[in-house]
Amino acid sequence: MCGIVGIAGTRDVAPIILEALRRLEYRGYDSAGIATLEHGEIARRRSPGKLNMLAAVLHDRPLHGHTGIGHTRWATHGAPTEANAHPHATAKVAIVHNGIIENFRELRAELTAKGHQFQSETDSETAAHLVTDLMAQGLAPDEAAKQAVARLTGAYSIAMIFKDHEGLLVGARRGAPLAVGYADDEAFIGSDAFALAPFTNRVSYLEEGDVVVIRGAQVSIFDAQGRPANREVKITSASAALVDKAGHSHFMAKEIHEQPEVVGHTLAHYLDPAGPVVRHLGVGLREALVAASRITISACGTAYYAGMVGKYWFEKLARIAVETDVASELRYRNPVYPDTGVALFVSQSGETADTLAALRDAKAKGQTTIAVVNVAESSIAREADIVLPTYAGPEIGVASTKAFTCQLAALASFAIAAGVARGNLSTEDEKKLCASLLETPRHIAEFLKQEAKLKTLGEEIAKARDVLYMGRGASYPLALEGALKLKEISYIHAEGYAAGEMKHGPIALIDEAVPIIVIAPHDVHFEKTISNMQEVMARGGKVLLISDAAGIAKAGKVWASIEVPTTNAFITPILYAIPVQLLAYYAAIAKGTDVDQPRNLAKSVTVE
Ligand code: F6R
Repeated sequence: MCGIVGIAGTRDVAPIILEALRRLEYRGYDSAGIATLEHGEIARRRSPGKLNMLAAVLHDRPLHGHTGIGHTRWATHGAPTEANAHPHATAKVAIVHNGIIENFRELRAELTAKGHQFQSETDSETAAHLVTDLMAQGLAPDEAAKQAVARLTGAYSIAMIFKDHEGLLVGARRGAPLAVGYADDEAFIGSDAFALAPFTNRVSYLEEGDVVVIRGAQVSIFDAQGRPANREVKITSASAALVDKAGHSHFMAKEIHEQPEVVGHTLAHYLDPAGPVVRHLGVGLREALVAASRITISACGTAYYAGMVGKYWFEKLARIAVETDVASELRYRNPVYPDTGVALFVSQSGETADTLAALRDAKAKGQTTIAVVNVAESSIAREADIVLPTYAGPEIGVASTKAFTCQLAALASFAIAAGVARGNLSTEDEKKLCASLLETPRHIAEFLKQEAKLKTLGEEIAKARDVLYMGRGASYPLALEGALKLKEISYIHAEGYAAGEMKHGPIALIDEAVPIIVIAPHDVHFEKTISNMQEVMARGGKVLLISDAAGIAKAGKVWASIEVPTTNAFITPILYAIPVQLLAYYAAIAKGTDVDQPRNLAKSVTVE
């Protein structure tokens, strides 16, 4: 998604805006730009492509001035060209914008009729002309900005600077996050606290509908009704160190390796190792679980696959009916919710537009809403009735890895809690399950020692044009996740199937050129999965089996195998996520793709 930075400073701001934009690279983008006030006039530099291209433009034609805005654009309306890159400007105002202005067509027609000339195909430029138009009617810049923002529909955040108004910066939040940073003699705006981390750790987050007016270091925030508002200034933990690759070649590698630690952190929040037992659930949560006639689980992408694994756990441990659907479907289905239902949403960023909309709909339909979310200050975290945090830390690689396993850790803990609350698990069961879960970080660390083997296998997989993944039970969502991971970072076509579905169609694809990755822990589904594997092998399929020692011994001869530590079947979804991540990572390295920022993808999907 687009990234926004704004600085009302006391030094030349273009170089530091560029630095801040680099910290937003992880969000995904395809063009970038900066505008400053040079002697009161708006000056800007923009470039398609990555930030080093913008840096080259700035090197040839530096920008001066103490007030400025910058942007990384992830194209929605119009191709990633220089003309469509932000900031968009008239002679009076320059703006940067993240999200979508839904009524831009009507506004553009109205403003064109009044003589405004548009230079880009974007929806964003409309905001610049609207503000200019209101200023031409005699409004002060901040007033014009407020009135313009009130006319824009959609979900977005925006920042602006104005000709002849040194030190004036206006920002607005309507559905997409915006943080304000405070320093002694400067003030900042950013899409998130990472962008602001080199400048300040004192940050407040705008609330829905807020407008911020910054004059020098003086910050005034107004709520949706235009009343002055106080937003708590927090000391953020998004320190500079957290966005370092820590010696790894990619953020994705770093994040894969952080999993023992962050899964441990997440489990520590939910489990008391002394028992081991699940920690006391908040009062409302326990009651909601006991009363619930159904849990509806929804999310997008990888987070959805975590939710699908959750379904198997909740049904088994808590004997509660579970429905799962992707958020982009659920939100428009007008689903029938039970009277005493719980609706659970999973999200790393906490800003995914479809997930947020599905949550709002479920809430409006009387469900107790629960969010498993990684970003504590996010919209989803703020709007859910109950938050189940994950402690993955900032995830920078676009492909989700550690957030997924932390989501699974939280869901597994919560499923045990639900089983206990509903009287379905004995104290002994609880202890056993908690003890197994608490072993997960150690098993992940143990497995990571096999990385060299995974590299070799990833390089083999990289030679394929198509790859199939299959699994049963909770390994089925992992097959889907493995295929998603491979296709998103290596661009190799991959599909995941429930192993039992193979002979209903996909088996027609099998030949010697198609590797089939079989995820088969030695659990209750093992024999059936191995039968499906044999059917595939009988048709020339090249099988890579992921299983434990007993499974590999039983399965017989296959093309290749990956041995995962033997554990309680309950925790295998968390553990088996690691080999599928590493296979995708090394296949992508072999293909030479941009692993951390794969083409066309964005980290935080705040448009539907
Ligand atoms: C894939 C991936 C995406 C996200 C999805 C939801 O590796 O990262 O599929 O899982 O866009 O994002 P969040 O979890 O931020 O709601």
